[in-house]
Amino acid sequence: MSYTTSKEGSILKNALLLKKYHTNLIYDYTEYPTKGNWSEKFGSEDYKSAITDWYGKEKNKQKPVLFYVHTPFCEQLCYFCLCSKTITQNYENVKDYLYNYLSKEFDMLQNFLNQNKVSFNFKEIYLGGGSPTYYKEEEFKYLIKKMRSLIDFSKIGDFTIEVDPRRVDEERLMFYHEQGVTRLSFGIQDFDRDVQEEINRVQPPELVDKLLTPRVRKLFPVINFDFLIGLPRQNVKKIEETMKTVAQLKPSQLQTMYVHYKPNTRKYMTKMVRNEPMLDFFDRKAVFEAANKVLMSNNYTRAGFESYALPSDPLAKSINEKKAVYNSLGTQKGEATNFIAVGSSAHGVLNDEYYFQNFYELNLYRGAIDEGKFPIYRGLKMNSDDVIRREVIRHIRTFFNVEFDFFNKKYKMDFKDYFKKELINLLPLQDDQLLKINNSNIILSELGEHLSPQVANVFDAYNDQKFYEKSA
Ligand SMILES: C[S@@+](CC[C@H](N)C(=O)[O-])C[C@H]1O[C@@H](n2cnc3c(N)ncnc32)[C@H](O)[C@@H]1O
Ligand code: SF4
Repeated sequence: MSYTTSKEGSILKNALLLKKYHTNLIYDYTEYPTKGNWSEKFGSEDYKSAITDWYGKEKNKQKPVLFYVHTPFCEQLCYFCLCSKTITQNYENVKDYLYNYLSKEFDMLQNFLNQNKVSFNFKEIYLGGGSPTYYKEEEFKYLIKKMRSLIDFSKIGDFTIEVDPRRVDEERLMFYHEQGVTRLSFGIQDFDRDVQEEINRVQPPELVDKLLTPRVRKLFPVINFDFLIGLPRQNVKKIEETMKTVAQLKPSQLQTMYVHYKPNTRKYMTKMVRNEPMLDFFDRKAVFEAANKVLMSNNYTRAGFESYALPSDPLAKSINEKKAVYNSLGTQKGEATNFIAVGSSAHGVLNDEYYFQNFYELNLYRGAIDEGKFPIYRGLKMNSDDVIRREVIRHIRTFFNVEFDFFNKKYKMDFKDYFKKELINLLPLQDDQLLKINNSNIILSELGEHLSPQVANVFDAYNDQKFYEKSA
């Protein structure tokens, strides 16, 4: 599929190019246009009109929708964490959020949908955080009850929960299954003890092994592990060991994300570098490549930029069928690409038309709900150009390949003419062997795959492309 830039197939042969393109200004492109371009003028009323406008179109009525619930609490701080969460040991805070706010947001949504005869075709559920595993059984059951009043569970395929392995046991996982959960996503990050100590998240592999009993594996055929690449004290040898442990534990999917370091907005992140610095541009790639090697030799296939799957996992199939999508939940099968989301910071998308997001700050989130408003902080109505670019970026990030004809047919366009400027802007990247522009497609090289956010950035009409100037 892709061609390789170096004879040995190692991106590390390209140290100068890695340095040239390395930048902290990397957009993940889990959304396009990126969140910084959504308007803060978009509020509760705009959200309501977005729903009725979108659902009012016949073609959208049956489109699958994912329901996302955010729980912004954790017991202990992981120093790397960029997720939206508050650290608390006081369970009353969690209960207050659920019973007095989240449940009211549910009611508001349900009333609004009923009044406007909107009946979304909910197909998937995702409980994210923070730590949704913080809920004790009584509260979890209440949350499920609330969801059941809005969602027909008999139609739900994937129902995922993000699991903090330190806070659950086998019984709890069985309980999740009884409540309808079908898919587990574990936050692992690294199995190495030194790295775990640096990031304030000690969880030995034995703990995870103990959870993945035959019973659990049978009930949850899809199990995902999240890993971070670039953490202090990671190195090639350690990551090889970590990935060998993965190969023994055999999750069916992995997301291996490059860690973002943002000490300006999250001061506590500096605690992570108290002994050793973050990995530099070269070591990150070396660690990634080492992880990649072990995974590939243990039967995992690469599934998008940072994801891996066993061949039997549905994600591997959806990658082959070009259905997979890359979004804020990682690389997903691509069945439900519309999201309706509740909870602080949660964001939703109604494809080809709208993005919207709730307040991050709990006081603002609560304030809006107390006023009887949807707690919407920002949003965007996409135009037709946004939609096309978003799809081009998805193909770059997920398949490392843009077939012009796909776009010509789907959007009734002439790709080469429409993206004349971008094709010229890609030429320096082609000279650097990140990609090859052919008559009918753009194919990323192995090096280009590693720098796919930078390639995608050429198609971003909103964010400037400073790093090319910087690196010239
Ligand atoms: C939103 S967290 C919630 C998961 C759950 N609380 C847990 O830790 O088990 C989901 C994932 O986001 C990723 N993440 C958190 N901070 C990150 C960062 N600084 N850079 C990249 N990914 C990050 C981690 O891989 C984490 O597993
Ligand atoms: S990684 Fe998970 S458990 Fe750790 S602070 Fe972030 S959300 Fe909480």
